[in-house]
This record gives sequence, C-alpha cells and structure tokens, in this order.
Amino acid sequence: MTGLFEGNICVTGLQWGDEGKGKIVDFLTEHADVVVRYCGGANAGHSVKIGGEKYATHLLPVGVFRPGVMNLIANGVVLDPEVLFREIDEFTGRGVAISPQNLRISYKTHLVMPYHKAEDAGRESAAEGSAIGTTRRGIGPAYADKMHRTTAIRVADLLHEEKLRERLSKIVTDRNKVFKVLYDMPPLDWKEMFETYRDYGRRIAPYVDDTSHLLLEYIKQNKRIVYEGAHAALLDVDHGTYPYVTSSSCSGLGVFTGSGAPPMSIPNFIGIMKAYSTRVGGGPFPTEQDNNIGNYIRERGNEYGTTTRRPRRCGWFDAVAVRYSVELCGITSICLTLLDVLSGLDHLQVCTGYKYRGNRLPAFRADMDTLAEVEPIYETLPGWNGNISGCRRFEELPREAQQYVKRLETLVGAPIKMVSIGPERSATLIR
Ligand code: GDP
Ligand code: IMO
Ligand code: MG
Repeated sequence: MTGLFEGNICVTGLQWGDEGKGKIVDFLTEHADVVVRYCGGANAGHSVKIGGEKYATHLLPVGVFRPGVMNLIANGVVLDPEVLFREIDEFTGRGVAISPQNLRISYKTHLVMPYHKAEDAGRESAAEGSAIGTTRRGIGPAYADKMHRTTAIRVADLLHEEKLRERLSKIVTDRNKVFKVLYDMPPLDWKEMFETYRDYGRRIAPYVDDTSHLLLEYIKQNKRIVYEGAHAALLDVDHGTYPYVTSSSCSGLGVFTGSGAPPMSIPNFIGIMKAYSTRVGGGPFPTEQDNNIGNYIRERGNEYGTTTRRPRRCGWFDAVAVRYSVELCGITSICLTLLDVLSGLDHLQVCTGYKYRGNRLPAFRADMDTLAEVEPIYETLPGWNGNISGCRRFEELPREAQQYVKRLETLVGAPIKMVSIGPERSATLIR
C-alpha cells in the first residue's frame, strides 16, 4: 500500500455520488488483493483513466483493471446480467482480462429483470412533478422484490432452469396485468425472457460462488481488501435525503450487510468528497448554483452523468452535509477530489451552516422539507489560478489551494490525507 493505510479499506462517497470513487479505488488497488462491490447496481458509473484510456464501470469492481486482483460482486448488489456481460465483452475486447479467475459473483445477489426496468420507467414517467429522477436502471423495483421475497430472483435461481421457467411465467404474467392498468404498457413475453435468462445462467455459472465465505477466507489469509462503495451517504435509503435517494444502504454502514464482512475486519473508512457539490436527479440541494458558477464547474469538471449523461447540478462545497456523512460512516480519512476544477475562480464559497426559519440549525437534517427551506451560511475563501494538475506534492499547490484544503478538513472533521487533481492515477497527492 502507499504506506498510509494499515488494514482493509472501505471507500465511500460523502456527497450525492460521482465523487471520484472509481479513480480512488483504482489508485488504492495498486497494493490490494481483492476489490468488493457491495451495494447498488448498474445505476453506478465509476470512471478510471489508465494510460490515456478511459473506462466506465457500472457493475464490475474496478479491480479488474489490475492484473492479479480478485474481484467480488457481493450479495448487496442488484445485478443486471445484460449490463454485466456487455461490460465484460467491452473490456475484454479492449484487452482487459476478465474471467472466473478474477471475478466471483455471490449466489445471493439479486437480479434486475426487464420488468424492473419497465416499472422504474413507468413510475418515473407517471410521477408528474414528483419523479425522483432515477437512472431508470430498475434499481428500486429490484430491491423492492428482494424485500417482498416471493417475487425475487437471485443469481442462484438462474442455475435451476425448470424452476426459473415456472417462476418467470407466474411473475411476468402478474406484472403484465399491473403494468397494463397502471402504465398502459404492452405485455412482456415471459418465454422469451426465460430463454434469455436461462442463457445468462449458463454463462454466469462459472463465476457463481459464496463470496461471504471467500471474504472470510481472505481475511484469515491477511489479504488486503478494498470495498468499493457505490453512490454515497446522502443517497443512502435510510440516512440520505429521502425520498430522493437510491434504494440501497450505500453509506459506509451498508458494507457489512452488503458483503458479509465482519465489522471489526474493516478499520479504515476512506470518504471521498469533491471540492464542490454535485447532484443528479431531483431532491433538495442547498448550495446549488444554477448560474454561471454552476456552469463553470460543470464544464471544467465535465459534470455529466457517467451512466445517463444527464448534466449534473453543481454548487459550492457543503461542509454541513459532508460533516454529517463523515460522522455517520465513521470516516477515518478523506480523499478530496477534483480540486483542479476550481482553478480560475476569484473567490470560493463554502457552506458552514444552515439558517432555518431565522435560526441556525445545529446539524444537517436529512429531511427534504427542512432542507428545501434552509438558507446556506457561507464563508468566503480566496481562489487561485493556473493548471494545478501537474503538481506532484501537496506543497506545490498554490497557497490558496492549500488553505482551501486545510479549511475543509477542519470543517468536516476528518483528516484529508489524499488530494486528487486530475483523473489519472498519477494526479493524486498524498499528505
Ligand atoms: P464515481 O461515481 O464516484 O466513481 O465518479 P464518476 O466516475 O462518476 O465521476 C467522477 C469524474 O471525475 C470522472 O470522469 C473521473 O474521471 C473524474 N475525476 C476523478 N478525479 C478527478 C480529479 O481529481 N480531477 C478531475 N479533473 N477529474 C477527476
Ligand atoms: P455513483 O456510484 C450519482 C441517483 C440518481 C437519482 C437517485 C435514484 O456513480 O456515484 P436510482 O436509479 O438509483 O433509483 O436513482 O439516485 N444516483 C446517483 N447519482 N451517482 C450515482 O452513483 C448514483 N446512483 C444513483 O441520479 O437521483
Ligand atoms: Mg459515478
């Protein structure tokens, strides 16, 4: 490892996603043996840039880009086999080795089915003004079926073809009735779906494993494990800005149920936060800058969704929100990303408190009605100019940039041990 971290690491987003988790997990993986995805599905989009090549993963752990690293898709993920195989085919076509030798998938992982995607789209289109702005990847309906239990399909079920046929005929026939009434949708063909998923089952079989058991073995063998969080604390279904969240436990807290890792086996929780804020989809966003500042950040930071290409909403750094995430997840150190994007602004604003109905709120409130009304209290810090992406030591950064980092560290309450100043592996400063 970099000499910075001892023991296993969980990487988790501290804002509303897209903090650069993919880049940082890839960076940390240089000295890791295993990378584990434990929550969410193909709604995630993690980018890595290696030697000028850019890759975006939705389901595959980014450890696939490091030869010799084992990758696990754990039980907490909802897996869309269509996306999985598309991703495997794309990357292997580009020379990345992916096989059952370096990828294992939990038999407990739930599947995203075509009717989940249809329902996600149907609900969003019918929501009229109260849509969540989902990625329409079927995530919410897949997790809902997991909780319903009798209508869920797991990876293990793909391996029992006759039972799968029976269950699909029943589930799809029932869904078709509901979709017709609610969304006036044409019926889905369960026979065709069965054949497609039967073939996925045959293809996935060599990858299927008991990943929780594998993890326990790896822990006994003192292998270095990096847990690749998807989404972020503020999108967590329990602790995020509900209902404008995703449907999984995607704060660092979800790593235990999502993977089967014993709590004491992960001493390091590295929070990833960008030097400003972004959000895709609906929901309250107190420091949003729907103006020239927001546009400046969006263009310099290329803030367009990795999964949906939607323009991301952009705003100033919100230290109140991030402090909440830091405390929630027990963050032990922070990586600050995309600092280079802020170059060229005269002044930077940082939200240090919220005013609500005339009073200062004592802490963040993950409640959309309160958040929609709060007024951010800002502190102004001096900006800096020039391209900082070439710096290779923290001390080489302009004095104002160093000051900005130090101020954020104090405000959010955890040490910033890494600073990212570009998408490549080399543009990462260790403090
Ligand atoms: P993730 O979902 O958290 O993995 O983040 P995304 O990959 O969706 O979005 C982050 C974007 O920022 C990607 O395009 C990365 O290549 C890019 N990126 C990551 N770190 C940096 C950085 O420090 N500076 C710049 N300019 N880009 C970065
Ligand atoms: P990564 O891992 C940013 C957002 C969606 C939407 C809400 C619910 O790349 O950081 P869903 O399809 O999950 O039901 O949508 O959650 N969302 C993300 N936003 N980055 C992500 O993942 C996201 N995953 C979900 O935009 O607002
Ligand atoms: Mg992303």
